[in-house]
Amino acid sequence: MTKQQPQSSPNTEPRRDFLKSASAFGAFLIMPSGTRLVPINSKLQTAHIGVGGMGNSDLNSISSHKSVEVTGLCDVDTIRLKGPAARFKNAKTFQDYREMLSELGDKIDGVVVSTPDHTHAPAAMSAMNLGKHVYCQKPLTHEIYESRQLAKVAKEKKLVTQMGIQIHSKAVYRKAAKIIRSGAIGKVSEVHAWSAKNWGYDGEPYKGKAEVPENLDWNLWLGPAPERDYIPKVYHPGNWRKIIDFGTGTLGDMGVHIFDTPFDALNLKIRSPNWVKTICRKPTGFGHPEKNTVEYEFPGTSYTTETLKWIWYDGRNCVPKPTKFKLPLGVRFPGQASFFVGTEGMMLLPHIGEPVLFPETKFGKYKKPKVVDRNHYHQWVNACLGKGSTGAPFSFGGPLTEALLMGVVANRFPGETLKWDAKKFEFIRHDEANKLIKRKYRKGFEVEGLS
Ligand SMILES: NC(=O)c1ccc[n+]([C@@H]2O[C@H](COP(=O)([O-])OP(=O)(O)OC[C@H]3O[C@@H](n4cnc5c(N)ncnc54)[C@H](O)[C@@H]3O)[C@@H](O)[C@H]2O)c1
Repeated sequence: MTKQQPQSSPNTEPRRDFLKSASAFGAFLIMPSGTRLVPINSKLQTAHIGVGGMGNSDLNSISSHKSVEVTGLCDVDTIRLKGPAARFKNAKTFQDYREMLSELGDKIDGVVVSTPDHTHAPAAMSAMNLGKHVYCQKPLTHEIYESRQLAKVAKEKKLVTQMGIQIHSKAVYRKAAKIIRSGAIGKVSEVHAWSAKNWGYDGEPYKGKAEVPENLDWNLWLGPAPERDYIPKVYHPGNWRKIIDFGTGTLGDMGVHIFDTPFDALNLKIRSPNWVKTICRKPTGFGHPEKNTVEYEFPGTSYTTETLKWIWYDGRNCVPKPTKFKLPLGVRFPGQASFFVGTEGMMLLPHIGEPVLFPETKFGKYKKPKVVDRNHYHQWVNACLGKGSTGAPFSFGGPLTEALLMGVVANRFPGETLKWDAKKFEFIRHDEANKLIKRKYRKGFEVEGLS
């Protein structure tokens, strides 16, 4: 992993002038590339986009660092802004993050994005275009192309980034990655991963139209996604996960946590899948399927056999039977976990729990490495302040999200094997699937680097 060090920036003053003139014209202008601020005082000034739900938790975790000063708070729903605004009285509040970035651009160093999946990329890229460090919730993006672009721009601008997979920093996950990399179970040939959660919807498109409540700016909530009528509770909050235009289904939502360790341990960030195939119900064009089995083949790395089989199961009754792996009767698999099959053994990694190695006869006395918990949030803050680096930068979160999203695309073509051309960044001879790599942003929501 490359160490990310903030650079001192002699350009701060001209940038401030530039921003002043930009906001004087009321425009959402993009900063010259490559520029970014260092903390103006000893504290990292943060702005937070989406402060309800997980955003509230992100806000608390990041602001618990003694060197953080919360400068801006943004939420499209003013009810969700209230609590955070009362706690951080010095922070300025906004409903439109573009206004916040334009107005506070010269005061903030880092931006935290905790909105629904479909607005991660536009919000994160808008911040990065201004040279800001970014902590962005998982999955990194809604579209494959967006992940590629966020990782590219973060690298080009040497920004400190972290994807919000906080479990990545937990001792149990890092310990599991160490065990795999030590070769304890040999070369890994298969990874199975599952979540019995259901972030899908098999029904007809929702019908109805309701007046948008005063507290919500529905147009901003939709952001780059196609326009549609507001219906209470079925999209905002939380349930957007089930709907194709906004969420990424159970694979994007939970898969990103559960595939995190296998992806990291096997160094798959250097590889793109050879192909992906999903078994699920026929597409409806509206909701993600409630039950999926997604199979991938990856080219091998030094920790795997020549190729790696990688299978995801989600929805009701999805948990594979331990007997499938010839494990003794009495072994139980949890509702969410990953399972590694190696040439010399196997490993179960519960979400979230201690790794268990099989067969017991071989690994009964196996001594697991000692690993301590890290603070995923403070790691990002420290790295922004020039201390250390992050464990899940966009150079990792981007490729992980890309791979997951290929499975999400494949669930629009059930039963078909979608072959991926890593060099051309496209599915081979599949025009329909290729149309789903990149979304056309709604007019008025285009962002440089994404649209
Ligand atoms: N890392 C984790 O363990 C974890 C857990 C839960 C959620 N998440 C992630 O956090 C994100 C949010 O999930 P949630 O469950 O909190 O959703 P939610 O719908 O409950 O909350 C999203 C918040 O963002 C606000 N918002 C929506 N669009 C916005 C915009 N354009 N600008 C500003 N604010 C906007 C909403 O009003 C709301 O307050 C998702 O990406 C989700 O995957 C991560």
